[in-house]
Amino acid sequence: MSAEEWDARYRESERLWSGKPNDVLVREVSDLPPGRVLDLGCGEGGDAVWLARRGWHVTAVDISRVALERAARHAVEAGVAERIDFQWHDLAKSFPAGEFDLVSAHFLHSPGDMPREEILRTAASAVVRGGVLLIVGHGGLPPWEHDHAHVRLPTPQDVLADLRLPEGQWEVQVCAEHERIQTAPDGKPATRTDNTLRVRRLAAEEVSR
Ligand SMILES: C[S@@+](CC[C@H](N)C(=O)[O-])C[C@H]1O[C@@H](n2cnc3c(N)ncnc32)[C@H](O)[C@@H]1O
Repeated sequence: MSAEEWDARYRESERLWSGKPNDVLVREVSDLPPGRVLDLGCGEGGDAVWLARRGWHVTAVDISRVALERAARHAVEAGVAERIDFQWHDLAKSFPAGEFDLVSAHFLHSPGDMPREEILRTAASAVVRGGVLLIVGHGGLPPWEHDHAHVRLPTPQDVLADLRLPEGQWEVQVCAEHERIQTAPDGKPATRTDNTLRVRRLAAEEVSR
């Protein structure tokens, strides 16, 4: 999907996502000391705002200017605008500069030919020594999401393998599928499978020579 298509998707409703942080982000990041974080595909900013509220300095990136405007508004309302640098990028073509203590990619899926594996490899290279890369994605489609039929939904083991992390440099902390209850468009609860990969880049003194 192009930037225009994502903009159109966002314009279909006043708010596409809940505005709340993703559950896995809250679970996996609450134990980390705040530092510099990069949020890839930040959407309307639920995760970015939550991170900024916890003291993180956030760089938040999306291909949709509509989503970024909403996210920036959300940050102002939450009083954390000065801690979030919103940047427009088509991650297939450009990537934010800098190094980060945490790089987070939640549901960075896009119908079409987004080079997700390549983007996530670049994301890994932006993690400082001792920092964490957290990737959360869908492991399966719910019956109502026909428009995502062409999106590749890898297992967490696939995501890990596709990162091609150099041996002895990273610690795999979580590589697992989990179920999540979501409300279907008809209002009924439905169970879907997501997956989490959390890997930590080893600090210099931890790397065996
Ligand atoms: C499924 S949404 C997830 C939004 C948010 N991370 C969340 O968990 O609520 C995917 C997001 O990725 C963004 N996106 C899709 N392709 C992208 C690309 N090539 N570069 C940057 N962002 C992209 C979309 O605009 C959208 O906001």
